[in-house]
Amino acid sequence: MSAITATNKPLSPERTVVLFGAPHTDGATGTLLNLYLSSCEGAVTVIDCFKRAVAPCDDCRGCHRVTRCVKRDMDDVYEAVEQADRLVLVAPVYNRSFPAPMKAMLDRFQCYWARRFVHGIRPPIETPKTAVLLTVCGSDRADGAHLEAQVAPLFTVLHVTETKVLHVGGTDTAVDWDAVAEKL
Ligand SMILES: Cc1cc2nc3c(=O)[nH]c(=O)nc-3n(C[C@H](O)[C@H](O)[C@H](O)COP(=O)(O)O)c2cc1C
Repeated sequence: MSAITATNKPLSPERTVVLFGAPHTDGATGTLLNLYLSSCEGAVTVIDCFKRAVAPCDDCRGCHRVTRCVKRDMDDVYEAVEQADRLVLVAPVYNRSFPAPMKAMLDRFQCYWARRFVHGIRPPIETPKTAVLLTVCGSDRADGAHLEAQVAPLFTVLHVTETKVLHVGGTDTAVDWDAVAEKL
């Protein structure tokens, strides 16, 4: 089990779920997440996509027959995301996309698309949430914008009502983390 639940300032009732998309926690992605969490109140659950390495969606259409994913290796992730008030995706850009284990996990949210558009359940998840997309990339270009476009439709079926985004470029050279902290 690689979902870690940490309670940070527990007086807040907010529930934050983080999908962490880097292979190691001590790189730029980990630094960005730690900066973000330092001002984040409530209960925080971090799900490490590389450690979980869930099965990819193979379009088996099981979620067209029942209102959940029929693969059971992500049951705890679905439960956490459904209950979350805030969903944080934090990832390095790999080839202008998400690293493969994170992409696999995101594709597995297809069951919420099926809930909405096959089963007609609206909204597919009851709890509305704020989404936060945090990316890092080696180049100074805003390669994170590609990831933003990818998750926009997904956020809709996850009942995201507000999206916040920060792309941090230039990790191949140097990042001014104080400036990043200000933006957060
Ligand atoms: C497989 C792979 C693909 C990458 N593709 C891109 C890319 O498309 N654009 C970019 O700017 N950086 C790219 N990078 C660089 C990473 O985004 C960058 O090194 C980032 O800081 C890695 O996060 P980390 O420090 O948390 O490991 C790539 C790195 C790897 C390993």
